[in-house]
Amino acid sequence: MSDEIFHAPMPGAEELAEPLRSRWSPSVFDADHRLPTDQIATLLHAAQWAPSSGNLQPWRYFVCERGSAAHGVLVPHLSRGNSGWVPRASLVLLAATQFDEDPGRSPDDKPNDPAINLYCLGQATAHLTLQAHAMGLWAHQFQAFDKEAVAEGLEVPPYWRVVAGIAIGVRGDPTEVPERDQEREHRVRARKGLAEIAYGDHWGVPWPGITTQM
Ligand SMILES: Cc1cc2nc3c(=O)[nH]c(=O)nc-3n(C[C@H](O)[C@H](O)[C@H](O)COP(=O)(O)O)c2cc1C
Repeated sequence: MSDEIFHAPMPGAEELAEPLRSRWSPSVFDADHRLPTDQIATLLHAAQWAPSSGNLQPWRYFVCERGSAAHGVLVPHLSRGNSGWVPRASLVLLAATQFDEDPGRSPDDKPNDPAINLYCLGQATAHLTLQAHAMGLWAHQFQAFDKEAVAEGLEVPPYWRVVAGIAIGVRGDPTEVPERDQEREHRVRARKGLAEIAYGDHWGVPWPGITTQM
């Protein structure tokens, strides 16, 4: 079974357009690969041009290249599970959005809605990860790190939150990483069925177009 088929399980995924079909989240990156600045800018453009409520674009990204000060702030705060594979990525982007009211906001400004901001940040990040994959790169998002400590180290205003990281790079040699990280590459990818996530006329009642195999 080829790597691509293994990671795009049936049924359903084979109908998707690229780069959705072959996307998955690898954990073995080439620790020597660096991303040229213009490619990093293209990834950021993908997020920049995502739609957002009121076109408010409530997303910010820290660009953490290996060896940068921002990368140095992040790495000590990664969870144990993420500490082996994340630093090997060519690039880590840290995604932040506004959660609480800006204390300096004018009373005429619309109140902040953290749920919508999170929705928009997630969407911009999805565009970015798919752009990465269309460029022959791989992205693996992660949230297991001490976000408060990282936000403090990067001087993020208290009414914004660092939400997640996106590790991006090219795939590396599995023999260079601990067995634990090698095994992550072969986890079976599984999903809830459509009956569990797509409803028809009532909450919890599956959309009638769903057959058992979906
Ligand atoms: C917001 C978010 C947070 C995640 N956090 C972690 C993480 O901390 N560590 C990790 O190894 N993977 C993390 N993942 C990756 C998911 O585990 C992975 O996307 C999921 O298992 C589905 O696998 P796939 O991306 O290969 O389809 C995260 C993904 C998302 C979208």
